[in-house]
Amino acid sequence: MKTILTGDRPTGRLHIGHLFGSLLNRAKLQHDYETYIMVADVQALTDNWQNPAKVRDNVYEVVLDNLAAGVDPEKATIFIQSQIPEIAELTVFFSNLVTLARLQRNPTVKTELAQKEEIFKGGVTYGFLGYPISQAADILTFQAEAVPVGQDQEPMLEQAREIAHKFNGIYGQVFPEPQAILSDCPRLKGLDGNAKMGKSLGNAIYIADEPAIIEKKIMAAKTDPAKIRKNDPGHPAVCPVFGYQQLFSSEKIAEIKKTCQSGELGCVDCKKCLAQAVVKYLKPIQARRQEYAKDMKKVKEIVVLGTKKARERAQKTMSEVRQKMMIDY
Ligand code: TRP
Repeated sequence: MKTILTGDRPTGRLHIGHLFGSLLNRAKLQHDYETYIMVADVQALTDNWQNPAKVRDNVYEVVLDNLAAGVDPEKATIFIQSQIPEIAELTVFFSNLVTLARLQRNPTVKTELAQKEEIFKGGVTYGFLGYPISQAADILTFQAEAVPVGQDQEPMLEQAREIAHKFNGIYGQVFPEPQAILSDCPRLKGLDGNAKMGKSLGNAIYIADEPAIIEKKIMAAKTDPAKIRKNDPGHPAVCPVFGYQQLFSSEKIAEIKKTCQSGELGCVDCKKCLAQAVVKYLKPIQARRQEYAKDMKKVKEIVVLGTKKARERAQKTMSEVRQKMMIDY
């Protein structure tokens, strides 16, 4: 069986963008791959170092969201990044293989730095700039061949492949060059029309949101700005609500599109129907979440066991690495 690894930063609960972009995909893949799911607390601290309680508080929320989406602890290994010191060790060795200029060119890092000006107003930290190296170590500590992620992570994988290639060339073959497995679901826009639904953007529907909250959020969502009155013709292609309808009301999407365009369907009715569909869709997922949340002792046990298993796997890779690097004393 091939190995996959993926993870999430515990900086907040996960939303429906994560659900369709990544969680459902990994729950499907767990049947065909040896699957590692990492709660990336070390990475979360690279831009939240001043906020350790936030990271700590969200670790189990992220675990619950994964379990809710159907990640099966019998199949997938769920673990916490900070509890695998081998990842940190490999990060140090990898950092010799990457230039500062290469990190500064990483498109994901560039985009994030532009969004996080406030956090880095005193200067960009070594830890944040280097997080692509640490992410390569997350993946390669488990010798993962593939990584199910959203499109925005492709530059991270590009960099991981470069590092693997360079390491293998200098010290000998240890690492595969990991490929992304992209979800076939298009990226969900934010409720505010922003191109991205984001934990930190205040424009998300969370997996654990209660029905009344979901309804309230959807009723306040942005739609096509050119459709001012009910009977104005709408433009589904630019409407975030239509983007959600494509996922949650796929069985009547042709009708929604037609009646929106013709002006028969007003935004209020369209949103009401969407809210119902989202609530219905999330119901079994939320039920599973609540079931696990009632027994946090069990959830913690899942993570302890997963972390133990992940650590054993990591130690195996690291003994190979130390030997190849001639530091196996
Ligand atoms: N960078 C990912 C995110 O922001 C989280 C992550 C950390 C990750 N390490 C990873 C994803 C390794 C895939 C593989 O969501």
